[in-house]
Amino acid sequence: MKVTVVGAGAVGASCAEYIAIKDFASEIVLIDIKEGFAEGKAMDLMQTASLNGFDSKIIGTTGDYTKTAGSKVAVITSGIPRKPGMTREELISTNAGIVKSVAENLIKHSPDLIIIVVSNPMDTMTYLAHKVLGLPKNSIIGMGGALDSARFKYRLSEALGCPASDVDGMVIGGHSDTGMIPLIRLATRNSVPVSRFLDDDKLNNVLEATKVGGATLTRLLGTSAWYAPGAAVSAMVHAIACDTKKMFPCSCLLEGAYGLNDLSIGVPAIIGANGIEEIVEIELDAAEKAKLEESAAAVRKTNDILSEMNII
Ligand code: 2OP
Repeated sequence: MKVTVVGAGAVGASCAEYIAIKDFASEIVLIDIKEGFAEGKAMDLMQTASLNGFDSKIIGTTGDYTKTAGSKVAVITSGIPRKPGMTREELISTNAGIVKSVAENLIKHSPDLIIIVVSNPMDTMTYLAHKVLGLPKNSIIGMGGALDSARFKYRLSEALGCPASDVDGMVIGGHSDTGMIPLIRLATRNSVPVSRFLDDDKLNNVLEATKVGGATLTRLLGTSAWYAPGAAVSAMVHAIACDTKKMFPCSCLLEGAYGLNDLSIGVPAIIGANGIEEIVEIELDAAEKAKLEESAAAVRKTNDILSEMNII
């Protein structure tokens, strides 16, 4: 089974590395526009094969999409990352054209592709891919909620003083510093609601730290994070490649679910060989519903810029 990762930058290369180490793909194609960059990353990663014990073959190519032909899954990480102080939405003018061209090139060589969009502003880039490709809505997914949920679990485990493996929690809504919705009400420590252990102040600190998880790392690193984004999207690739039917919060094109239409935003979905197998509608309380409406309105506002740019 062949996987393509577009963009050999930090996120793309981390994603390729985690996919290789999980060893479920026969071939991983890393493609970038910078001369020799993907080839170098692929070679460096292949030199870990005997050390990390994987048989996946990783190849790199500079812009030759024929090498991606026959891919089952493609991950789009290309475009510029944000700098400290920037919002993800500010990247749209540069990244929209890149994502459009990448998506069109991918589908030319792999007509039955499942695409996972990582490039920011992710919900809008996912919507753009839907609009330009016209593929069935189950075959284009945005990765944001899996990452935000991992950060949510990290913050909860920190506050609880327990292993992250003991914590469960989900983040829905837009993948933005203000639009994401960590579902504190449903979060648990080994099936026990976290409110049993943490008071409102501590829960609020977890909530706020989760929402700015990406910006916090961008401030510390001087650029966007890459390990957790790479790990989050590689987990989704694994679910598609191995048809695991794992549930992730991810950006799905909604046509009525949660009372929303014609936008892509983070909701729980079951992911398998067909991409989005099922969008899962969970019972939200009034406050959560209001937050989701607000988040959707913000995503729509960013989507509108695509029309102003005449790109859709
Ligand atoms: C993040 O939150 C890159 O949007 C990604 O780190």
